[in-house]
Amino acid sequence: MQDKIHLESKERDILINEIKRMKLETENKKTNFAWTGDTKGHEFLFSNNLFSSLSAKISNSIIQYLKILEINTDKLDIYYQRSWATFTENKQSINFHTHSQSNLSFAYYLSKPENSGGIIFRSNELQNEVAKNIFTSSKLDKSLINKPNQYNSDRSMFDLEQDSIIIFPSKTPHATMPNSSNKPRISISGDVTIMLKDSKGFEHLMPNFKNWTKF
Ligand SMILES: [Fe+2]
Repeated sequence: MQDKIHLESKERDILINEIKRMKLETENKKTNFAWTGDTKGHEFLFSNNLFSSLSAKISNSIIQYLKILEINTDKLDIYYQRSWATFTENKQSINFHTHSQSNLSFAYYLSKPENSGGIIFRSNELQNEVAKNIFTSSKLDKSLINKPNQYNSDRSMFDLEQDSIIIFPSKTPHATMPNSSNKPRISISGDVTIMLKDSKGFEHLMPNFKNWTKF
């Protein structure tokens, strides 16, 4: 799901400066890969008060997404499991990965200059695949598939503008396009866990951790 979140330029500048401070503190050389705060000791961004207002706005978008799926949010406790910033400079990108430990994930574009790269989603289970691997790019090269479209492709790219948020199931493989701008792309990402307030009679969703027993 895509949504828009508006920030005043003053707040945006404060958040960007805070992210630049974290990055400087933990990175000493530029690589082909984006700086991602979750692997650099900054995986609880929303416990930083500077991000409180933004996290509340993101929570609203996430609840909207659950409502589109007609999931009854009254029955759920919803948690940010972790949250972090990503900082992608020229030619940098993020390889395909999943967030297998959570239910929902998101990317909010705090700074998204033109040509700084979109996000790509890939499906490993192609509903329209009439024969195994018939929709791989080599079949395009051999002219078996005339042209890629939304029915015969295993991936789609979304190049959203600044202040957009994209929310998706955490197990969906995703990657980012390389940044071809000279300005950095800065996003805020996070993983969300949903659990039942009361698991009586339910089999599949996580029972509330308040009822768990610690070793
Ligand atoms: Fe990711």
